[in-house]
Amino acid sequence: MSQTPVAAVRPARLPVLRSDGPPVGSPWPASARPASGGELLVGGVGLAEAADRFGTPLYVLDEDEVRQRARAYRTALPQAQVLYAAKAFLCSAMADWVAEEGLGLDVCSAGELRLAAATGFPPERILLHGNAKSPEELRLARRLRVGRIAIDGLAEIPRLAALAIADTPQRVLVRVLPDVPAGHHAAVRTGVAGQKFGFPIDGGDAAEAVDRVLAQPSLRLTGLHCHLGSQITEVEPYLTALDRLVALLSEIRDRHGVELPELDLGGGHGVRYRHGDQELDLADFAARVTAHLAARCADHGLSAPRLIVEPGRAIAAPAAVALYRVLSVKHGTDGRTFAAVDGGMSDNPRPALYGSRYAVRLVGRNSGAPTAAIDVVGRHCEAGDVLVHSAELPADLRPGDLLAVPAAGAYQLSMASGYNLVGRPAVVAVRDGRARLLIRRETVEDFQAREVGR
Ligand code: LLP
Repeated sequence: MSQTPVAAVRPARLPVLRSDGPPVGSPWPASARPASGGELLVGGVGLAEAADRFGTPLYVLDEDEVRQRARAYRTALPQAQVLYAAKAFLCSAMADWVAEEGLGLDVCSAGELRLAAATGFPPERILLHGNAKSPEELRLARRLRVGRIAIDGLAEIPRLAALAIADTPQRVLVRVLPDVPAGHHAAVRTGVAGQKFGFPIDGGDAAEAVDRVLAQPSLRLTGLHCHLGSQITEVEPYLTALDRLVALLSEIRDRHGVELPELDLGGGHGVRYRHGDQELDLADFAARVTAHLAARCADHGLSAPRLIVEPGRAIAAPAAVALYRVLSVKHGTDGRTFAAVDGGMSDNPRPALYGSRYAVRLVGRNSGAPTAAIDVVGRHCEAGDVLVHSAELPADLRPGDLLAVPAAGAYQLSMASGYNLVGRPAVVAVRDGRARLLIRRETVEDFQAREVGR
């Protein structure tokens, strides 16, 4: 490695954040505002100031952005039930906010369920998912009286039926596999044939699961569920899935004489990670899905079931900004520059797992330098630990600088690991110019506390 300064590639053309809010197509929270000295305010709180106060890496969560997004779903789909998919990111404050905004919760483990229950989340608004629910998880769900359970395996049916509570049948959905390809990466395309989720419609597995559920007096089948995939930006796959699900509802009506009252289309609504990325247009989704559901049901002589949607990313991702401190800058002989930061794949595994691309900007210092293509790399012991490839950052980037990554609120902290015993970052909530610590930084003492032998 030489220490010659990086070649300037072009003058700065990062999308400018303006004092009246981020421009159209921006991945930043709506509250993001530039301030003097290169400071960037989110929720009225300076990011550089927050980094100084709470340390880095730091996740800054804009409470109003979460609430506003939850509200936008209720406004766009007033007749539907909106369940926040907790797997995107869950903590007690998040559960409180979505509960207060009138949403329900999709949980997929005893951990998510118990955390939500401990906050007093209304259990009837909780839906339990999972392709491998343990008998204990089913018992817990029943004991806590969760509103619905999505059946995703034949073995669950008798298990759940055996947990009957007198006079209160458990409401269940059957998760079906519509075989519709959608989603940003093969790993998250859960609605296509050949993977582990759901009962295939083709071949009759879904119909058989429905038969078996209907044969259990202690279960009440309220509808069908499907989840196509994640980071979907087009409405069409949802319409194709609706065609298949409504056809199955019609078959169920013909065979059993029952019209199921609910249809859950899952989540998967795509967001912007970088300026100009396409996102799923919520108003368009709401209008077309609602109209299509009504039309297809009319074709089959069915009354339209109540729609359920389960957005996770679209509520959480745009609400958080990840902050990292630059620890070293290396200029390679091949013209590459690496800025190594104090976080990485242990707090955000998405680039390494899916090749996800992010935006990043310098905050807390004004730089007049031209921009250069800089790889923002993590601190972990793998060459693949790259957070942002070829980021456009000031060529004078140096150790001590602070970098901010938007759209950091989903599937980062919820998938964070203990790799290299670095410890998971702290999370602060910001609102109306105030910051409060929600989750403290994980320490080596936390790791040591789990050790009970040597
Ligand atoms: N409902 C079900 C049954 C799901 O499995 C999921 C996500 C959702 C709803 C919410 O999907 P969303 O609206 O957040 O896309 N780690 C991956 C995403 C995995 C999604 C898993 N299931 C990523 O970072 O892209």
